[in-house]
Amino acid sequence: MRAEGQGLVDRLGLTEQAPLDPDLPACWFSGRVEGGSGERDLEIAIAFAGEDPYHACDRIGTVPATLAAYLLCRRFRPDLLVNAGTCGGFQRAGASIGAVYVAGGDFLFHDRRIPLPNFEAFGVGRIPAILDEPMRAALGAETGIISTGDSFAPTAEELVFFERERVTCKEMEAASLASLARDLGIHFLALKAVTDLVDHPEPEASAFERNLSRVSVILEERLVRFLEWMKVRE
Ligand code: ADE
Repeated sequence: MRAEGQGLVDRLGLTEQAPLDPDLPACWFSGRVEGGSGERDLEIAIAFAGEDPYHACDRIGTVPATLAAYLLCRRFRPDLLVNAGTCGGFQRAGASIGAVYVAGGDFLFHDRRIPLPNFEAFGVGRIPAILDEPMRAALGAETGIISTGDSFAPTAEELVFFERERVTCKEMEAASLASLARDLGIHFLALKAVTDLVDHPEPEASAFERNLSRVSVILEERLVRFLEWMKVRE
């Protein structure tokens, strides 16, 4: 979502580029973050899936995110693809509003139920998350299982899945982008900050709306800290 990343675009002074595709609302910004003496410069690009012109809202979910990321990767050829955004957390896993996670274990899909041989496993994904411990430490993030689906509101069956798979972050893009990055041979990092708690009496949507801007600032701070570390990384 644009609200999750526009703060970082502005703070880094990135410039809007020509559309990734003339027929899609996806947009992207890029620029150079200069390192100090003895540090490296970083070339940064940030893409958003854009606004849906038919419904006046951001195009969230796996399909627009993967499409935008694919176009960005072909155009920009990054060394590292980062999916930074918000998620629903779980109290039973110790999550609280504002906590920040990177993926530990496999990326899962919780809403791709395909009871056919082989397709069942394809549906759930189980895409290995390659944890870079120095990166995790630089981000000050905890590790947790991330599960992706195209719905914000979970079904009863999905709640059972979250419990069984010990899911820590429920969100709407990461597993799809992990799959894309694996296909393209690009290092991938998912960074997720908790805006709402799935196993809490307050509806996820109202906590999400209340906490979105505050948690987006937390995400921005972690990413700025991460970029400082990337400048001096061995
Ligand atoms: N993004 C932020 N909170 C979420 C939730 N509860 N479910 C899916 N995506 C989210």
